Amino acid sequence: MQYVTLNNGVEMPLLGFGVYQISADDTERAVSDALAAGYRLLDTAAAYGNEEAVGRAIKSSGIPRDDLFVTTKLWLQDAPAEDNTRPAFETSLTKLGLDHLDLYLMHQPFGDVYGQWRAMENLHREGLTKAIGVANFYPDRLLDLTLNNEITPAVNQIETHPFFQRADYQDLMREHGVQIQSWGGFAEGKNDLFTNPLLAEIGEEHDKTVAQVVLRWLTQRGVIAIPKSVRAERMAENFDVFDFELTDEQLARIAALDTGASLFFDHHDPEIVAWLAKRRLDA
Ligand SMILES: NC(=O)c1ccc[n+]([C@@H]2O[C@H](COP(=O)([O-])OP(=O)(O)OC[C@H]3O[C@@H](n4cnc5c(N)ncnc54)[C@H](OP(=O)(O)O)[C@@H]3O)[C@@H](O)[C@H]2O)c1
Repeated sequence: MQYVTLNNGVEMPLLGFGVYQISADDTERAVSDALAAGYRLLDTAAAYGNEEAVGRAIKSSGIPRDDLFVTTKLWLQDAPAEDNTRPAFETSLTKLGLDHLDLYLMHQPFGDVYGQWRAMENLHREGLTKAIGVANFYPDRLLDLTLNNEITPAVNQIETHPFFQRADYQDLMREHGVQIQSWGGFAEGKNDLFTNPLLAEIGEEHDKTVAQVVLRWLTQRGVIAIPKSVRAERMAENFDVFDFELTDEQLARIAALDTGASLFFDHHDPEIVAWLAKRRLDA
């Protein structure tokens, strides 16, 4: 496995396993399969409703805690989030059956963002999470948070795939010490990603699949990837991406696929903001 060093010195695997949209019933088996395939970075969220199942798979794996890198995410909290964030964190930790996290992310750039961040800074200072970061922050909000708080987010987990590549934003994040992590690295298959002719052609040049080309393209750029699959054979395929290198010419061809726009939702869209703002999780 290759690792990246976060801005606080913590080492994070460049490739992991995401569990969004895996039902609570399927998650324990999926995570057990992923751990058996070699994944050590697990990415869940309070909002996914499957933290307990992730925790059961971790426990039954017998893998030493220090060998794992576990991320979960804080859902939107109302003000004063300084008071509400710690119980939400403790609920996640209990569900996961852990005594600390490796990375705690603010899931959305909404709610009482400053209160949430101050509470997360405290959790980090107390050693309850080795790193803290954010997700879905666009440049304006990331800079505002970074420049006006003590701790710079270690990671920003954002939609990043061949059709929305975020190269300029990655440069800006690098300038500020924020590590980019991709969600939806396969665009969840949108735009017929898995049969894209250009990606398939590049795959043939390396005897690799489209999925492997995409994951190599992300990781070669220094973007942390967390592909999701419920199928063991795909988990193995997605893990086998470090034995080839894309050439500059191939990278340039992939760059041409960028549309510069989200395939999911725009966090600047007032309707999206209102929709997310309404959603609160049960404990
Ligand atoms: N922070 C956020 O707001 C946010 C948002 C979305 C996602 N995420 C994180 O990012 C992770 C990844 O994103 P995602 O789950 O949205 O989507 P994704 O990884 O882009 O795509 C998953 C889809 O690709 C299929 N797939 C996986 N490997 C494949 C392969 N080798 N060949 C063909 N199809 C394959 C899966 O099907 P099967 O399962 O049937 O194999 C599934 O339909 C999530 O699980 C989550 O941890 C975070």
